[in-house]
Amino acid sequence: MKHPKNIFLVGPMGAGKSAVGRHLARTLQLTFVDSDDEIESRTGVDVAFIFEKEGEDGFRKREAAAIDDLTRSDGVVLATGGGAVVKARNRSNLAGRGFVVYLYTSVDQQVARTRKGRIRPLLENDDPRGTLEELLQQRDPLYREIADLVVDTDGRKVHSVASEIIESIS
Ligand code: S3P
Repeated sequence: MKHPKNIFLVGPMGAGKSAVGRHLARTLQLTFVDSDDEIESRTGVDVAFIFEKEGEDGFRKREAAAIDDLTRSDGVVLATGGGAVVKARNRSNLAGRGFVVYLYTSVDQQVARTRKGRIRPLLENDDPRGTLEELLQQRDPLYREIADLVVDTDGRKVHSVASEIIESIS
C-alpha cells in the first residue's frame, strides 16, 4: 500500500472533517473514526451534555484520552474535533502517528456549515461568528504546525477535497 497507514483530519468546526473523512476511508479502504463519536460512545451521552456537566476542561480530558487511543490504530481515517489541536499532547500524538491534513475553511463557510446539525456548545452564544473568528485566529497556527498537507475547502464539494488529498498522498 503506497498511502500512509493513518490519515488524521484537523480543522475548525464546519470544515467537513467527518464528511471528507468518511469519503476518504471508503475510497482508500481504511476505517473511519471520529473523536467526538468515540467520546459519545464511551460515555453514552452527547458532547453538549459533557460540556454542560464537566465544562470544557472535562471534555478536553476525555478528548485527549480518545485521541491517544485512536491514533495508536493502523489504517484509520480520524476526524478530530476542532479544538483537538489546543493540547500539545494531542498535537504530538497526531503529528507522530499519521499523515495530518488541515482542512482550511474561511469563517464565512464555517458560519454557513454550522448553522444546522448537532449542537456545538462553543457556538451557543449571541455571536457565533465572533467566536469562530477568534478560534480560527488562535488555532490556525496550531493546525498548520502539525499539518503535512493543507487543503482549502471553501466552496468545494466533499469528493473534490477528498480527491486532492488522495492525489497528494499517492
Ligand atoms: C469543538 C469542536 C467540535 C466538538 C466540540 C468542541 C471545538 O467538533 O469537538 O463541540 O472546540 O472547536 P467539530 O469540529 O467536529 O464540530
